[in-house]
This record gives sequence, C-alpha cells and structure tokens, in this order.
Amino acid sequence: CSTLGIGLAGLGTVGSGVVLALLRNASLIADRTGGIVNLDIAKVLVRDLNKKRPVDIPADKLTTKWQEVIDDPAVDIVVELIGGTSDAFDIVAAALRAKKPVVTGNKALLAERGPELFALSKEFDTPIHFEAAVAGGIPIIKTVQESFVGNRIHSMVGIINGTSNYILERMTTGGLDFETALAEAQQLGYAEADPALDVNGWDAAHKAILLATLAYGFAIDPEKVYVAGIEQVRPIDIEFATQLGYVVKLLAVIREHENGVELRLQPSFIAKSNILANVNGVFNAVAVHGDAAGESLFYGRGAGQDPTASSVVGDLVEAARSLRQPTGHRGFLPYTEKGRLMPVEETETAYY
Ligand code: NAP
Ligand code: HSE
Repeated sequence: CSTLGIGLAGLGTVGSGVVLALLRNASLIADRTGGIVNLDIAKVLVRDLNKKRPVDIPADKLTTKWQEVIDDPAVDIVVELIGGTSDAFDIVAAALRAKKPVVTGNKALLAERGPELFALSKEFDTPIHFEAAVAGGIPIIKTVQESFVGNRIHSMVGIINGTSNYILERMTTGGLDFETALAEAQQLGYAEADPALDVNGWDAAHKAILLATLAYGFAIDPEKVYVAGIEQVRPIDIEFATQLGYVVKLLAVIREHENGVELRLQPSFIAKSNILANVNGVFNAVAVHGDAAGESLFYGRGAGQDPTASSVVGDLVEAARSLRQPTGHRGFLPYTEKGRLMPVEETETAYY
C-alpha cells in the first residue's frame, strides 16, 4: 500500500519524539492496521535549519516556510507541534482549507481559538485530532469524546499539568527551591516553551477548557475561567499541608451544576488518603464521573517526549486510517502468525 506523507510543523521535544516513535514502530503500525497505514515524513518545518537535532532529517525535507509544508503534494496529513496561537493558527487553518487532516498537541491554540478552527474543520469536512493536547500519553480525549459519549458527565477532577506537579513534588520531598525544580522540568522536556503558562495555571486551564467543551458542548471564554497557579505556593504552605495530613496539588475542577458548569484551576489541599495525593512527578490523573459509568480514574505520564508522541502517533494513525478507508472496517484486526504465549513455568512468580 502506498505511503501517506506527514507534514510535520515543529521538530522540538514532541516533534522529534514523533519521528523517533514512527521509526521504532512503523512495522508494528502497518501490522496492526492490516497493512493500510504506512507513514512517511514528507516535510518538516523548523525555525532554525542549522540546529543540531536528535533525529536526522534530509536537508531537502526541512523548511522554515510553513506554506511549503501545506502546499507540498507529498503531504497528506499536517502535524502541528510548534506551539503558540499565531503561526500555529495559520498553519492549522491553511491545512484545513487544503483538506489535509490535522493532528496537534496545542492546547493553547484550541482553547483560545478553537471556535474559529472547528468552524473551518466543519466547513472543509476535515478533522482536527488533539489527543496530545491534554494529559500527554493518557487517552483522555478519546475517553470523553468516544467511550463516555453515552454518559452524562457530572464532573472531571484532576491533575493535568506535569510541570507543576513535578515542581510541587520536588519542593515537597526533594527540598528543592522553586527555580531549581522548574529548571529540572524544563531540562526533562516537560515545560512549555514559555514556562509561565505551566506555573501560572494557564496550561492546565487550556486543557480543562478543552475537556469541559467536549463534555458540555459549548464554547468557553478563557477570560471567564478562574485560574490560580503554583507560583503562589510558598514552602510554608507545603509545610502546613504536610503537618495537617495534606499535600498541595494544582487541581482542575470541572463540575456540572443545575445552573451551569463550574471550571476552576487552583493549588488545593488534598488529603493524603485521596488517590490524587499519590499522583507524583510528571504523572497526571483525571477522575471522570459519568452517570452510567460512575467514577473512573485515568492515570499516566502527562508530559514529555515519548508519552506525548504516543498520543500524536495514535491520532496520526487514526487520520491515516480515515483517509485510506473512509467507510471500512474499524474493528480488531487480530490473528497474524507472529507472537507466542509464554508457558507458565517460564514466567516469574507474581509480585506487583
Ligand atoms: P519545543 O520543544 O519548543 O519545539 C517547538 C518546535 O517548533 C521547534 O522545533 C521549533 O523550531 C519549531 N517552531 C516554533 N515556532 C516556529 C515557527 N514560528 N516557525 C517554524 N518553526 C517553529 O516545543 P514542544 O515541547 O515540542 O511542544 C510543541 C507543542 O506540543 C506545544 O503546543 C506544546 O504545548 C505541546 N505539548 C508539549 C508537551 C511536552 O511535554 N513538551 C506535551 C503535550 C503537548 P526550532 O527547533 O528550529 O527552534
Ligand atoms: N507543559 C505541559 C505540562 C506539557 O507540563 O503538563 C504537557 O501538556
């Protein structure tokens, strides 16, 4: 089956991760999709052509002009991973107008300018996939959009910024000061290009806006959302919390009330016995309460190169499948000749 070309805008932490994941797992993806999805990087947008990168991209595929990515006839799907709401908006809008499906991890873009972009998506009948925009490697977008579509969602409460969570933990158990902990989070590739968005609560607020929009179906004006970040947390707050049996976490609360939807982001005291109190470091967790399912907890790595690339690649495969088989079978494709079940005597005694 012929390959589908990816136009990759951005080759930073996440963009490089996507290239590496595709290199690692291309044949796995082809197998799992019955051979219909073969992906190739056709064009890559960067700011600096001479920067040393962890992945090798042939020079003729690199460009600094985003129009060349959209216009390239070899590009079938556009992946936007440059961040921000200005150039990223132009790229996504142009891709949709060219009827090229979009995959993005850009929560700021969708929370701030989603209504314009989803209107274009509808007008040009071309999807925007955005699993990577919320909670890194946790498939929370598909959960709310698809698995919970038959539920009335009463609430979603969780920790959805890995950088803040990492900083809080390092300040609590590592005894680090705020600046050192933030520098570590940047070094590990968790923080935004502008880390102010992580520590002032706005990165998490953008994600919460997306979750609430999916669950309740109306456009949310970011200016009306209550947002307080961890920059207001002092060591003394953490000390008091510890003494009283609590931990401090940046909590997103989305809750349906009779007269509207509550949406707030704030550092909160969480009892040590609460499961969310044990979500540490870069991990995120979202408790979704649906009227049919009851409460389910989704937990995993909320930021960083590989987990985020996992979500982007999942979306890429979904976009590619839709292009290849708009009406085809979407179910399980099992029964290849590969693989073997280990006899029980070859396995370890179970300690978990
Ligand atoms: P990053 O490391 O800063 O990478 C950004 C990339 O985009 C760089 O390759 C940069 O080029 C390129 N770029 C930026 N502005 C550009 C412009 N105007 N024109 C051309 N190229 C441009 O960012 P990242 O951490 O990968 O994040 C990318 C997106 O994913 C953001 O929307 C972020 O919110 C989202 N996201 C990140 C994570 C994470 O854990 N990092 C998780 C989920 C979602 P140069 O390399 O040449 O400078
Ligand atoms: N800066 C974000 C975070 C990246 O720390 O959660 C994942 O969206």
